[in-house]
Amino acid sequence: MHLATCILAAGQGKRMYSQLPKVLHQIAGKPLVGHVLDTATAVSAEPPIVVYGHGGDQLQTAFASRAIIWVEQSEQLGTGHAVAQALPHLAAEALVLILYGDVPLLSVPTVPLLSVPTVQRLLAAAAASGFSLLTVNLAEPTGYGRIIRNARNEIVRITEHKDASADELAIPEVNTGIMAVKSEYLQRWLPGLRNHNAQGEYYLTDCVALAVSEGIAVVGVAATNELEVTGVNNRVQLAQLERAYQHAAAQRLMETGVTLRDPARLDIRGTLDCGQDVIIDVNVVFAGRVRLGDGVVIGPNCVISESTLAAGVEVLANSVIEQAIIGADSRIGPFARVRPETELGPGVHIGNFVEIKKSRIAAGSKVNHLSYIGDSEIGRSVNVGAGTITCNYDGAFKHKTVIEDDVFIGSDTQLVAPVTIGRGSTIGAGTTVTENVEPECLIISRVRQKARNNWGCTYYLLLYRQTSLATGYPLEYQ
Ligand code: UD1
Ligand code: CA
Repeated sequence: MHLATCILAAGQGKRMYSQLPKVLHQIAGKPLVGHVLDTATAVSAEPPIVVYGHGGDQLQTAFASRAIIWVEQSEQLGTGHAVAQALPHLAAEALVLILYGDVPLLSVPTVPLLSVPTVQRLLAAAAASGFSLLTVNLAEPTGYGRIIRNARNEIVRITEHKDASADELAIPEVNTGIMAVKSEYLQRWLPGLRNHNAQGEYYLTDCVALAVSEGIAVVGVAATNELEVTGVNNRVQLAQLERAYQHAAAQRLMETGVTLRDPARLDIRGTLDCGQDVIIDVNVVFAGRVRLGDGVVIGPNCVISESTLAAGVEVLANSVIEQAIIGADSRIGPFARVRPETELGPGVHIGNFVEIKKSRIAAGSKVNHLSYIGDSEIGRSVNVGAGTITCNYDGAFKHKTVIEDDVFIGSDTQLVAPVTIGRGSTIGAGTTVTENVEPECLIISRVRQKARNNWGCTYYLLLYRQTSLATGYPLEYQ
């Protein structure tokens, strides 16, 4: 049967107290509804329908690159009313998978879309009668609709928490909200829903009793775990779900052979692929797609996004690496910042307080202390001394610095780009290089050192007169 997906995302999310629509709040670095869209597109090739109300512009901007059928629900009159807005887009012969924008159907990063098999079970269950419902047993079911079954254990209706009797409130089996229903049934039932209930809303859940009254069986499918069906109504639940997700992700990594110094202090906001014997210390954040080769060691307090680190790389504490490729056995940090479009060859050392941007550094080169390397091409076995700056920006344009193989750059050097330092050259400490340097040259541009004899006496005399303390220089030399 042809499968349509319909995601309900019009609710305001009052309890978030936010300018941002609830479904755009993030779990694991991705909007709630982004997770739902991933599941929807994994099970159906058709563009999902998203019913929106609040913050339509923000939603459409956030997902501008995806094929989505946007349907507006201008007044939020309930979940049944929300699905009714989508009816014109639902072909009569379709099976409709209904998902909630605030139930992110979480999956663990190293096993993409864990929830997909659950949704597939739900769809398979709908094949016979045309109506299936994903349920879960909760120790704390407050707020959820309860699943009411008869003596034969068949589902007969759903009672919302606010409409439930004391006996019904004791039922642990709840409606996750996720269901698969024939479009034909929705077309028949939704226009007739009534809002005579505690919330004055048109409840989608009333379709269950309508099905039963027509002799259509509603098949219950149990979710495999709570994580994949937990919803978010406030920021406390958002944080709890984030933690539950991160816990599951950390668990999965350890099970597949990664050492985590503390699984409670790791955040994965994307996908992390790890080779063998990777060690990750505390408070590390991974974002986007990150690949760590065999034996990679990540020190504490690092942020690594959209990067590939080859085997044997060591990242020391407090380093930030973004959109970079790091060659095997390189050592980064502590306190290093590697910015986008950086590519390091094998055995490169980037030390403390060094920033590298849009540069390529070949095998065995070292930038160990307090430097800025931007828009540069650095060859093999180059030693860049402490405090070296590539002056890549003239206020309007960026320019390139090329440092060929085996160059030695002394400390506190400025390389004013565009400039090329020929292979094997040496730049003396304190030099400002403004012109290209031939291979095998020695370049020094610093001012010759001067000496004043008996300076101590003069200095204390000036101090005594309290003359030039403001400038730090004696009047004689200003
Ligand atoms: C709903 C279910 C409840 C279930 C729970 C699971 C109904 C009547 N109740 O309750 O049985 O246990 O979800 O989380 O369906 N929405 C719209 N338009 C509206 C109203 C809601 O698009 O007019 C969207 C919301 O954005 C949200 C979803 O539908 O994504 C659920 O709405 P919400 O108000 O949160 O329903 P619950 O009270 O949680
Ligand atoms: Ca809800």
